[in-house]
Amino acid sequence: MSLREIIFTPDPVLRRKARKVTDFGPELQTLIDDMVETMRAAPGVGLAAPQVAESLRVITVEYGEESEEGEEKVPPKLYTLVNPQITRASSEMVVAAEGCLSVPGIVGEVERHEAVTIKAQNRRGQPVTIKAQGWLARVFQHEIDHLEGVLFTDLTDQLWRPEDHPDREVPLD
Ligand code: NI
Repeated sequence: MSLREIIFTPDPVLRRKARKVTDFGPELQTLIDDMVETMRAAPGVGLAAPQVAESLRVITVEYGEESEEGEEKVPPKLYTLVNPQITRASSEMVVAAEGCLSVPGIVGEVERHEAVTIKAQNRRGQPVTIKAQGWLARVFQHEIDHLEGVLFTDLTDQLWRPEDHPDREVPLD
């Protein structure tokens, strides 16, 4: 495994619609392993392949829900999804702050579906269905947007620099 370089705006790869994965061979396995390592090192709660300059429909998410005291309530679970698609989305929307490893120096409030159902393939190409809500659902929506060339800054004008609100902790993905 090795760390990959995370690319930043305005790199055009971030704006491309990523290609569907059809080959689940060793190159994909290496990419996924590298993405997990890169996401953890960043650190980030999610990563999409275009962020490491691979225009492929692959995302990794690792998110452990925190209690109000800041202690982890649910141990982090790692998701590695290939060709993910949102097949159901709640009509309920929620607004929360998020940031992106590829958009340094700015965070913002983004409206997202409170819950989503995702159909995807796992790293072996087998079909998987995931139901997510709350923060996990938010991270999945952020990562799947990356596969369409969409960045969170496209979805809001409520943006600020992290140093302007150092009390607000904003996860990056
Ligand atoms: Ni991002």
